[in-house]
Amino acid sequence: MKMVLDMDTGIDDAVAIALALGSPEVDVLAITSVAGNAPVELCTRNCLLLNELLGGDAAVAIGAERPLAKDLLTAQEVHGADGLGGYAGSLPEPATSAVDEPAHELLARIPDEHPGEVTLVTTGPLTNIAMALRANPDCVASYERIITMGGAFDVPGNTGPVAEFNFYVDPEAASLVLNSGLDITLVPLDATTGAVLTRSALEMRKHARGLPADRPCRNSAAILHRALDHYMEFQFDESGLDGGYMHDPLAVAAALVPDILETLDLPVDVVTDGPNRGRTLRRSVQAHAAAAGRGVHVAFNHDDDTFRRLLEQRVLRPVFGATLPR
Ligand code: RIB
Ligand code: CA
Repeated sequence: MKMVLDMDTGIDDAVAIALALGSPEVDVLAITSVAGNAPVELCTRNCLLLNELLGGDAAVAIGAERPLAKDLLTAQEVHGADGLGGYAGSLPEPATSAVDEPAHELLARIPDEHPGEVTLVTTGPLTNIAMALRANPDCVASYERIITMGGAFDVPGNTGPVAEFNFYVDPEAASLVLNSGLDITLVPLDATTGAVLTRSALEMRKHARGLPADRPCRNSAAILHRALDHYMEFQFDESGLDGGYMHDPLAVAAALVPDILETLDLPVDVVTDGPNRGRTLRRSVQAHAAAAGRGVHVAFNHDDDTFRRLLEQRVLRPVFGATLPR
């Protein structure tokens, strides 16, 4: 399976990269960065570092440094100042560099070169995808599948009361992409808040000694462990959750095992302004018919046993030597 990842590499994006690169049937052709959890230069650095440390040979391309219309909002309180749970300077510099091609051009070129063969998984704001659609709509339509983490329907938002972060940050891009007629599988908080990696499952403290606090180190287990530890601390302080939401790994898992998700085909609108900015709404049948748009496949549930098995076999065991409690 040829795959392209479009990410605002923060911590759950990092686990999603580990899952994709840990899947023997997947060839990750490219990872494109977009501003979201952290500024785009940090997300790009994190994509490069993880690609190197986890044995990938993906092309990494730099994406949008800000949303289509709104000012950038980051989530560094959740993902750390460096996007991976640490402080600026605590990560080694990557040994590789990003390609010269801008992300939105690469995102259109790859499906054009491999029509019907490539799966696109997006786990950040949809700015790059919207830019690619504006310039090359037919190329973007050549992806075999597009799976997008974003939105919230029947559960509270995580960025204000009703909005999910990726769609809050760039609601114009989300609206443009979801109403483009592309065949999209949407993985909203309704599904991802049921996908939790518990701290106890990882015996988090066992590895904490692995990362020297005073100098960067090129150890993927230590870097991912420190990242997850920060992410879980934040979740615990914010809501008492014992663990971290695996939003983005679930989107990658949906590419690996399509029937891991239970979906409904729905016409979806994204509110772009006002108190409901970023909110995803079921569009009325009349409005949908008038717009002649296609619905998207919205996931409202997932098979957690399959998800846990994928995480354990392809991330936790190879990276941490850890297994999940039975
Ligand atoms: O709302 C959760 C999403 O926003 C995840 O993709 C997380 O990484 C952030 O990008
Ligand atoms: Ca993300």
